[in-house]
Amino acid sequence: MIAKDPEPNSLRYTPMKYSGSLDHLSYVEVTPIIGREYSTAKITDILHAPNAEEQLRDLAVIVSERGVVFFRENQDDLSVDDLKRFTDLVAKLSGRPEENGLHVHPLYRDPGNIPMGNGETDENIYVINSEAAKKLYKTMKGRESTVGKSLEREWHSDGTFEVCPSDFSCLLMEETPSHGGDTLWCSGYEIYDRISPPMRSFLDTLTATCAQPVFKSACTAGNYAVMSPRGSPLNVGDTFAPSHPVVRTNRQTGWKSIFAGAGLHVSRINDVYDYEDNMIREYIMRLITHNHDCVARMHWTKGAAAIWNNSCVWHAATPDTHLVPGAIRTGIRASSIGEQPFLDPASKSRREALGTVDLRPAI
Ligand SMILES: [Fe+2]
Repeated sequence: MIAKDPEPNSLRYTPMKYSGSLDHLSYVEVTPIIGREYSTAKITDILHAPNAEEQLRDLAVIVSERGVVFFRENQDDLSVDDLKRFTDLVAKLSGRPEENGLHVHPLYRDPGNIPMGNGETDENIYVINSEAAKKLYKTMKGRESTVGKSLEREWHSDGTFEVCPSDFSCLLMEETPSHGGDTLWCSGYEIYDRISPPMRSFLDTLTATCAQPVFKSACTAGNYAVMSPRGSPLNVGDTFAPSHPVVRTNRQTGWKSIFAGAGLHVSRINDVYDYEDNMIREYIMRLITHNHDCVARMHWTKGAAAIWNNSCVWHAATPDTHLVPGAIRTGIRASSIGEQPFLDPASKSRREALGTVDLRPAI
């Protein structure tokens, strides 16, 4: 169980330890650095196991250490309520603040929101739908099409625009074309480890503003109120411009990760000059896009699911399904809201904590 450690100079959260309760499941590591794929496991079996809490807690450890976990088997018996309960419990059992719960998407009231496959809507479920997204983005001022442009801007971490962003997100892909629509995850732990010690020390001191004004503009355009609160008493109102640490400690592992250094929702590195802000964000983005060994890629199949820890990975969708004739891509996602991001001065990088050597130097 996560508990605050009373000793000085020790971690704010005691790192979680894997107990072995998922050893019966077959898996492969997606890459040496990031990702694990369970080939036949069913999420419902974990939820209904006699030792479900132990298994869910262990899964939280694995997701937090590996960054993202894929469930390749068709999870067709996983109901919407199961998806919500699963995501909520993984987060809760890994020490999420007691007052928090599942995220409510700010634009849930948008009339353009399409229902889930069962015809219903749910304020805790974000529906991924390639056709609906095109319509909704048209209402968002400044949210331009990525067609013909760099896909750098796809990289993000869920809910970074909130005071308390998401810790775990779980996406269940209901329908997907035979090709296209892959999702990529990049390890923030490893990107931090690719940076030289003096530069890491400098980045440790920085915060960034994560402004996302498109939500307010979408509400104004659609003439509806933004949802509030959104999974935490701290996630209220329509400002969407919190400051977050550029380097964050993952509460489950105690390892440092680059967090608000780059990505869709990171708008400004605080306290530095404009050209320095651009330089830092471009530098972090360059590390993401130039080090594909830090990336795990999911080619979706019908009913597959992925669960990831937003405090130590970014992810990026691949907007190429418009090139596949008749492609339909729909999925449902639940996200838990974690703690307010912090950098624990007692935390270490993943390689420092594990005592492993660099695979290769930074670019
Ligand atoms: Fe996302």
